[in-house]
Parts: sequence; C-alpha cells; structure tokens
Amino acid sequence: MSEASVGALRGKAALVTGASSGLGKATAIALAAAGADVALVARSEEDLRSVEAEASDAGGRALSLPTDLVSPEQTFAAVESAVAEFGRLDILVNAAGTDAPGAVADLDVDGWDRTLDVNLRAPFLLSGAVFPHMREAGAGLILNVSSVAGKKGWANAAAYCASKFGLTGLTESLADEGREHGIRACIIYPGAMATNWGAWTPEDRHGESGGEASEFQALPPSQVADFIVWLAAAPPGFVLTEGIVVPVGEGLP
Ligand SMILES: NC(=O)c1ccc[n+]([C@@H]2O[C@H](COP(=O)([O-])OP(=O)(O)OC[C@H]3O[C@@H](n4cnc5c(N)ncnc54)[C@H](OP(=O)(O)O)[C@@H]3O)[C@@H](O)[C@H]2O)c1
Repeated sequence: MSEASVGALRGKAALVTGASSGLGKATAIALAAAGADVALVARSEEDLRSVEAEASDAGGRALSLPTDLVSPEQTFAAVESAVAEFGRLDILVNAAGTDAPGAVADLDVDGWDRTLDVNLRAPFLLSGAVFPHMREAGAGLILNVSSVAGKKGWANAAAYCASKFGLTGLTESLADEGREHGIRACIIYPGAMATNWGAWTPEDRHGESGGEASEFQALPPSQVADFIVWLAAAPPGFVLTEGIVVPVGEGLP
C-alpha cells in the first residue's frame, strides 16, 4: 500500500463481499490499513475470522458477517449488522463471485441462477440497502468487481459472462442515480489474478477459436486491492466510472 493511503480512510466504514479469500480479502485488509472500519462478508466463518485478525493487525476495526449471498434475508441482515456496529457505510465493494461453467446447451438452471444470484442480484440488493446511508452522508463509493468476461463473452462461460455484463448495467444506473447525492459507482474488469479462483490461461478465453495466446503473470490481488483503496480515497469530485485491470501481456478483452 502506498504511503499516501495510510490513514486516508480513517472515520469511514466499508462492507466488502468475498472477504474470505482472494481479491475481497486483500481489499478488506488494504481498506483496514488505510484506517477504515470493515465489515467482512462471505460464507466461511473460519476464513472470515482469520481475515478479521489480519485486518485488525493492519489498523482498522473489522467485523465478520458470515453470509450466503444467495439469500436476500442474509444479505440484508449483513448490511443492518454493519450499520449497527459502525453507524455508517461509506464504501461497498462487491467482490464475491462464483461461476457455473458449461456450454449453454448443457448448463442447468440451478447453476445459472446461483451465478446470477451471487454475481449480480447480491450487488443489486446490497447497493439498494447501502444507498440510503450514503445519500444521508452525501457521499459514498460502490465498487463492483466484474471481469474481462464482462467485456467479451466466451465459450462455456455464459452464466458468468452474463452476470458480469449485467453488472455493467447495474453500475451505470447506480452512477446516474448517485450523481446528485455525491455517490460514485465504479466497475473494474480484472484479468487473471492469483487467487483461489484457479489458474486460467489465455487459452481459456480464446479456446479453440483461434485467438492469440501469450505468456503473462497473474496479478497479485493486493495490487488490485491497492487500486480500489486509491479509488476509495480519491478526492470528492473525482469520478472513475470503469477500469480494465489486466496483467501486462494478457491482452485486452
Ligand atoms: N481470479 C481471477 O482471475 C479473476 C479474474 C477476473 C475477475 N475475478 C472476479 O474477482 C472477484 C473475486 O474473485 P477471486 O479471484 O478473489 O476468487 P476467490 O478467491 O475464489 O474468492 C471468491 C469469494 O466469493 C465468495 N463467495 C462465493 N460464493 C458466495 C456466496 N454464495 N455467498 C457469499 N460469498 C460467496 C467466497 O467466499 P466463501 O466461499 O467463503 O463464501 C470468496 O470469498 C470475483 O467477482 C471474480 O469473478 C477474478
């Protein structure tokens, strides 16, 4: 994390989904290191407790909120618990994600629904729940984590691609609705990151369709997390609506 970010978010409160692992975990710890109070949302309580300890060591207050984002009731309860504990919510990072690989002709409806529920419906529910708190404060940031698969669809990933494309529409609507209230909405489209998501290669994206493959190193999630903290700490009036964040060499979607 850059020197400039240390303490930059003191007095702010954030809710981060996917906080048990990968990008969400790195973002929660980076926000805490910048001084924010952070509510940690994911299913695995054990992993959340360990992130909570790391976030506290990094300098912020952290609160584990085990939540299955497929459940609207649990999702709303997480926001209520975070607001009850911190008294405010200034930053929402929707980093949780899942997928149901498979060709459209083979994909079952449960896989489709689960993917859309976690990747798109949960960000919609959470955004709606945090919006009034941000409106009251006259400021806020909603950061949605898409993927290069939200810019370019590819074979055997229709549920994932559709969910990530949908996140673009949600983010643009939020940005439009939030503008008059000082609420910023931003979407990032990461390329390969070194997380539990599993290794993927240019061939995954281009398959047998004949695209170019090249060598590249997956991004450490901490680098993308630092970018998110930088956005959260950006001066009022500064708006970045979207960003494609890929490792050098991966190629653009
Ligand atoms: N890794 C990549 O190469 C890559 C590239 C582009 C975009 N992305 C996006 O980056 C985001 C973070 O992924 P990652 O790479 O950090 O993967 P990851 O390490 O596998 O993390 C996924 C997170 O989502 C949470 N999650 C999944 N289903 C959930 C549910 N039903 N309820 C609550 N939480 C749930 C998981 O927590 P629990 O299992 O504890 O619930 C975990 O914290 C995702 O949106 C992904 O689409 C990843």
